[in-house]
Amino acid sequence: MARRKLVAGNWKMNGDRAALAELDAIAAAARAAPGVDVAVAVPATLILSAAERQPELDIGAQDVHAADKGAHTGDISAPLVRDAGGHFTIVGHSERRADHGETSADVRAKAIAAHRGGLRVILCVGETGEERDAGEAEAVVSRQITESLPDGADGGWLTLAYEPVWAIGTGRTPTPDDIAAIHATARATLRGLIGDGADGVRILYGGSVTGDNAAAIFAVPDVDGALVGGASLTAAKFVPIIEAAARAG
Ligand code: 13P
Repeated sequence: MARRKLVAGNWKMNGDRAALAELDAIAAAARAAPGVDVAVAVPATLILSAAERQPELDIGAQDVHAADKGAHTGDISAPLVRDAGGHFTIVGHSERRADHGETSADVRAKAIAAHRGGLRVILCVGETGEERDAGEAEAVVSRQITESLPDGADGGWLTLAYEPVWAIGTGRTPTPDDIAAIHATARATLRGLIGDGADGVRILYGGSVTGDNAAAIFAVPDVDGALVGGASLTAAKFVPIIEAAARAG
């Protein structure tokens, strides 16, 4: 099944108001690549201004709470993201799992809340370096998907991102064969959970994606795009990845 490529940026805890100017060139690149979906998960402080500045660009959040509102100091809910003009959120990023002890059950609850609040979801999974060295990468990814995928998930609102923890921000990436193996495992796990609907779910690769390696990564079977950290912070680095996705078709 043909799935449109999605190139999503994750600004993490970066991006002040001056950085909003980067979105102008990113939006222009998105317009020039109509076959590719382009999204940027900005810090919560920028969602409103980013969405107002570039209404055509898919702006989102990096996390949401599992509740819609209430006494949760410092957290942000899906309805609040939606109200600010956000259209999607990342959930289950390994930095949230590590820094905040989020479990797959937590991630599942957040994905459900995001969908309930009208947001699309990018749900992240991925093994640590230790788990890869122990030969457990496929089992870990499969288990994370099984434990965090909401019932009734479908590709209309849910995207998976495979982000090996050891590849994030390190300049190291798995080989194309290793990426292909995990994406095939992820697809098979999805099929076991949601049947034929699995074919409509995009599976992104994330971890040290750059303009230099994007074309090779997009050529890997079952890679439907990328979740990009460091190289999404400037248009100069992000646009070549969008262009590589456009060439990959
Ligand atoms: P880098 O692209 O900086 O390795 O980060 C990947 C990532 O964590 C995106 O969510």
